[in-house]
Parts: sequence; C-alpha cells; structure tokens
Amino acid sequence: MALNVFELEQVSFAYRGVVALDKVSLSIPAGQRLALLGANGCGKSTLLRILDGLYFPDSGIVKYHGVPLTEHDFEHDAFAHSFRKRVGLVFQNPDVQLFCPTVFDEVAFGPLQLGWPKDRIKAMVAEALEYFEIAELKDRAPHRLSGGEKKRVALASVLIMDPEVILLDEPTAALDPRSQRQIVDLMKSWEDLGKTIITATHDLHLLDEIAGECVVMDKGRIAGRGSPAEVLADERLLLGANLILGR
Ligand SMILES: Nc1ncnc2c1ncn2[C@@H]1O[C@H](COP(=O)(O)OP(=O)(O)OP(=O)(O)O)[C@@H](O)[C@H]1O
Ligand SMILES: [Mg+2]
Repeated sequence: MALNVFELEQVSFAYRGVVALDKVSLSIPAGQRLALLGANGCGKSTLLRILDGLYFPDSGIVKYHGVPLTEHDFEHDAFAHSFRKRVGLVFQNPDVQLFCPTVFDEVAFGPLQLGWPKDRIKAMVAEALEYFEIAELKDRAPHRLSGGEKKRVALASVLIMDPEVILLDEPTAALDPRSQRQIVDLMKSWEDLGKTIITATHDLHLLDEIAGECVVMDKGRIAGRGSPAEVLADERLLLGANLILGR
C-alpha cells in the first residue's frame, strides 16, 4: 500500500462565516500527481493553503506523513523549517508571494533561510534564473514585473528549494503558450522523481499531462475522483461542478 503524504479527515474551514471547505476527506499518496478541479470559489486555493500549513481547519484533521499537523507545530522553528523545505506552494496570485527588493533576492530567500553556503546559493540562483528565463530581470523589483514574469519568479523561488511536495495554484494561468509548455514539461519530468504534485487548474486540456488522478470539487466538497480519462468522460460530474457548459 502506498504511504499517504497527506490525509484529510472531515476538514472544514470558513472565512468569517464564508464556508470554503465542508467536511473534506481526502488521501494523497506519495508520488501522486493530483489535479484539483472545480469552478471559481469551490475551495481549491483554500485546500492548497491548508496543505501548506498556512491555514488550519476549523474542524477535522490534516495528517502529514501520518502525523496530525497543528498550528502549535509551526511555532517550533525546527519543524517549520523542515516542513517549509519539504512542502512548497506557488500561489495563484504571485503578488502575495513576492516581497523582496529584487528578483535575485526573491529566488535566494529560501536557500538563505536554510543557511546554505553563499557560493552554492549564488550558483543555484543563477541556474534557476537561467532555467526560468528571468536572468535579465535579476536586479528588477518583482512587484514591477508583468504577470507572467512574476509567475516565473514565484515558481523559481519555490522550486529552487527542491521540495518533495509541490503545491501549484493555477501554474499555467497568465503564461504565454511557450512558458505554459515549459511548465507542463517540467511537471512531467517530476513524475520520475517521485515528487507529489498537487495542482489546482482550470486547464482541462492539460490534465492528461499534469495529473495521474483528479479530484473534482464543488462548493467546498469533493464531488468526484478518478483518472483524467474517467473524470473527463463523466459529463454529469463536470456539468454539476460547472466545469463544462451544458448544451
Ligand atoms: N480571504 C478571503 N476572505 C473571505 N472569503 C474568502 C477568502 N478567500 C476565499 N474566500 C471564499 O472562500 C471560498 C473558496 O475560495 P477559494 O479561493 O478557495 O476558491 P478557488 O476554488 O480557489 O476559486 P478560483 O478558481 O476562483 O481560484 C469562496 O467562496 C471565496 O469567496
Ligand atoms: Mg483559487
């Protein structure tokens, strides 16, 4: 039996009375590439933030490698650092993620926090900037870049940490076709590395490439789960979750 990286049991979460997750139970095996599908406002980003230990459920349990995650755990630096190194979230809106004065500082921030040697950090940042084709932006202010450029900086700043669990919130939104293709190819290459990838997306045409399994959400609940082929063939499920238009 595959070991689960995450297990959610009856997880509910509300923003000041606005219910975002309603008794969600979900297991995510290690090495799975899971897509989260669902209409605007169905709870995908909220679920990713819960998995990233940014929010904690109002009720229910989130287990990481079989151990319940609590707010209290994150008050301990050793735990918080090790979790942040192993689980990385690329936000839907990069403005939330980018806060350093330059692109270089932004991508170097995580490794600096971990106290890696300066020379190693410099070399790794250079490589990441090159890979995401943002080397020429390295002295620019992240918040003054275009949407797609910001997205690439955000991806570089998370992926440089080489996390074992990668949470991606609409990774291909705001990217031009070539950049989209680059991200999809990168996501495919992670399959062989055994990484667990959880991606919220509206791009049904990319499902086959980015996911082995899909979860369909509807109004804070899990409405269905299956392989990309199974989910895409289930017209009733897709219609019910507002993922396709009725005829
Ligand atoms: N900061 C917030 N304050 C109050 N309500 C919020 C906040 N963020 C999200 N919500 C509400 O929680 C619910 C779930 O939102 P969430 O962002 O998780 O949806 P989503 O599936 O990611 O949607 P989208 O496809 O538009 O990104 C929605 O009803 C939304 O209005
Ligand atoms: Mg969202």
